[in-house]
Amino acid sequence: MKIFLDSAHIEDIKKAYDMGAISGVTTNPSIISRENRKFEDLLNEITSIIVDGPVFAEVLSVDAEGMIEEGRRLAKKSKNIVVKIPMIPEGLKAVKTLSSEGITVCNTVVFSASQAILSANAGASYVAPFVGRLDDIGEDGLCLCQEIRDIFDAQGIDTKIVAASVRHPVHVNSLAKMGVDIATMPFKVIMQMATNPNSQRAVEGFLKDWEKVPKE
Ligand code: E4P
Repeated sequence: MKIFLDSAHIEDIKKAYDMGAISGVTTNPSIISRENRKFEDLLNEITSIIVDGPVFAEVLSVDAEGMIEEGRRLAKKSKNIVVKIPMIPEGLKAVKTLSSEGITVCNTVVFSASQAILSANAGASYVAPFVGRLDDIGEDGLCLCQEIRDIFDAQGIDTKIVAASVRHPVHVNSLAKMGVDIATMPFKVIMQMATNPNSQRAVEGFLKDWEKVPKE
């Protein structure tokens, strides 16, 4: 399973990319708003860091024509841009049009398997179920991902599942086990995955013991 960083924070993107932890970046309008910079500038900088992987950028229009126009504009910026279209009925027309033009599209804010089926039929290359936000309302985000995985496998659908709204390492392990293609997560979760107090203690122990080794 690939790991993407769900962030537009340049320092975190550089760190995670240099660590070899991520192979793509996802953003949304809320994530962009946290950086207090122009969307275009941020996007240019992110695509110059992630040279060999997808960078997901979301449209803001809520009508199909507007989404199509924005999607075409975003796609022109870099061959690595994946256009995120919200999974609302108007969005499906935009998914169909943009993907038929060869633009890579992710249908985002997916909260049900039925929505994922429609996304795939409309031509989305990616669907993004929101795991944590379902958990927040007492539903099971991981169950939804499993359901979509089962349906796509049963139907031979090659639309990739990019699990979003991932909140902790246990989410990531479960998603990997069920064969989800990608999990996108905040930098904090990547660091939680990389960190274990036993590893830290082991390194400290080795260094301490090394002091006893004769150096001459
Ligand atoms: C997906 O690409 C979204 O940006 C994201 O994962 C939303 O997550 P949140 O529920 O943490 O805002």
